[in-house]
Amino acid sequence: MSKRVAVVTGGIGGLGSEICKYLARAGRQVIAADLAARSERLEAFRAETAGFDGAIVFEPLNVADHAGCAAFVERIAAQYGPVSILVNAAGITRDTSLRKMSAEQWGDVLRVNLDGVFNMCRPVVDGMTAQGFGRIVNISSVNGQTGQFGQTNYSAAKAGMHGFTMALAREVAKKGVTVNSVSPGYCNTPMVQAVPEEIRNQIIANIPVGRLGEPREIARTVEFLAADDAGFITGANIPVNGGYFIDF
Ligand SMILES: NC(=O)c1ccc[n+]([C@@H]2O[C@H](COP(=O)([O-])OP(=O)(O)OC[C@H]3O[C@@H](n4cnc5c(N)ncnc54)[C@H](O)[C@@H]3O)[C@@H](O)[C@H]2O)c1
Repeated sequence: MSKRVAVVTGGIGGLGSEICKYLARAGRQVIAADLAARSERLEAFRAETAGFDGAIVFEPLNVADHAGCAAFVERIAAQYGPVSILVNAAGITRDTSLRKMSAEQWGDVLRVNLDGVFNMCRPVVDGMTAQGFGRIVNISSVNGQTGQFGQTNYSAAKAGMHGFTMALAREVAKKGVTVNSVSPGYCNTPMVQAVPEEIRNQIIANIPVGRLGEPREIARTVEFLAADDAGFITGANIPVNGGYFIDF
């Protein structure tokens, strides 16, 4: 059987790049889809993944562009085969309290973090149901579960992502397609390193495990949900947060 094709949006990011490596090691043909604008990061990513011998390739994508996502999925299917695994890891923050938030800061975050999930799921779902196999994993956030000061936009998008996950899971369950979300807590990535040190130390003090999460710990969870024999898990949210938020 030829390799299953996996698309990871935000694929050259802190979590996305590690997810690409885990999926490639699990025998998938991986497409790291990300903004082409980040040329320095892209160069570093290419160097990091050179040893994967073509099992990880970069393709430019803006998840906020609805028509562009449809064209992207068609192009990938023609070049590599139909998309069997989609990981939506593209994300941005524009943090500020609601009193200071502009419509642009609200809109930018919703367009990338939530519309982006719709824009990518919409064109892959028909191909997955036709194959009778599909794995969609949406990278949400603990802050979508708890809310976070300065993140009304981000928390709304991330909570919305899980509502989307549960609804789509029901729609495609009979066709061998699972849809789940992973909600990372604070991880050791550029997104979190950008938080002022004092605030970051306060965050770490509130994580029972006593440290930030490592990208590989998120990637391992995604690989698990994307496995061929994970077909009975759907509509679920898997928290990977070091005990920062515990519920059931
Ligand atoms: N790092 C954490 O601690 C953490 C915690 C919870 C949730 N998350 C979520 O995990 C995901 C990955 O986060 P990360 O830490 O790797 O951040 P990151 O900034 O390193 O990576 C995000 C990637 O998304 C890409 N991206 C942004 N806008 C895009 C667009 N319009 N189209 C395509 N790609 C776009 C960026 O270029 C970047 O490579 C995000 O959705 C984030 O919200 C991260």
